[in-house]
Amino acid sequence: MVTSKQATQMTKKIALITGASKGIGLALARKMVSENFIVIGTSRSGSIPGVANADFHPLALDLSKPSSLESACTQLLDQFPRIDVLINNAGIGPDLGAKKPDWQSFHSTFEVNVSGTVFFTEKLISAIHDNGIILNVSSKMGAIDLCELTDSVAYRMSKSALNMYTKLLANRLQGNIRVASVHPGWVKTSITKGNLIHGRLTPEQSAERIFEFLISDFDTGAFWNAETESDLPW
Ligand SMILES: NC(=O)c1ccc[n+]([C@@H]2O[C@H](COP(=O)([O-])OP(=O)(O)OC[C@H]3O[C@@H](n4cnc5c(N)ncnc54)[C@H](OP(=O)(O)O)[C@@H]3O)[C@@H](O)[C@H]2O)c1
Repeated sequence: MVTSKQATQMTKKIALITGASKGIGLALARKMVSENFIVIGTSRSGSIPGVANADFHPLALDLSKPSSLESACTQLLDQFPRIDVLINNAGIGPDLGAKKPDWQSFHSTFEVNVSGTVFFTEKLISAIHDNGIILNVSSKMGAIDLCELTDSVAYRMSKSALNMYTKLLANRLQGNIRVASVHPGWVKTSITKGNLIHGRLTPEQSAERIFEFLISDFDTGAFWNAETESDLPW
């Protein structure tokens, strides 16, 4: 017999958003719950008090710890064997604005923005529905063709690497799952103090535009600027 919880899961689409405790991820979680998705949102603590809704499920995930990836996937797939949308939003930028790379921030940035994100995604691909979507929240700062500055070496390089993963996955999953990189705009979040002061979009405005892209018939392998609503060069 199908329980009412299983019946809800069969009718609503299921989205997993990493880094949903604040900033763009939190705004996206709220937006997608309001659009009738079941949303699983991650944070390192596993607590996300900012979304109070029966269709929202917090999950503990620290992308810098392989054991955390393992236990998050086990818990997740036990409760939600099928996922429609994976949004790899979690990201850090400890060297944003720094003139030169330093070992510690280089290491931690790549652990979260690249290795953790790649291996978390790899563990979940088989659970992603045919016609599903993987959205990597990247940055215009990772666009090699647009790079004229010298700062934020680890952050920029991590987003270029994430973009390459978008392309590789789009090639691998062609005809099955669509994959894209999205630049969320310059958004007022605590990723840096400067963002909170100078960001041009609120997290809600950015989430709105990312959501519009998500539900569009975008081509797999795209790199989309959600702020200007146009394609970006790689
Ligand atoms: N803000 C912008 O202008 C901007 C521009 C371009 C791209 N982006 C990208 O947009 C994404 C979201 O950024 P944001 O501005 O919303 O940043 P934010 O407010 O600092 O949020 C970052 C999220 O990542 C999570 N996180 C941090 N370390 C983690 C780890 N080790 N494992 C798993 N999750 C972790 C945080 O959760 P906990 O700390 O609770 O664990 C938080 O939910 C990032 O990928 C960022 O690079 C932002």
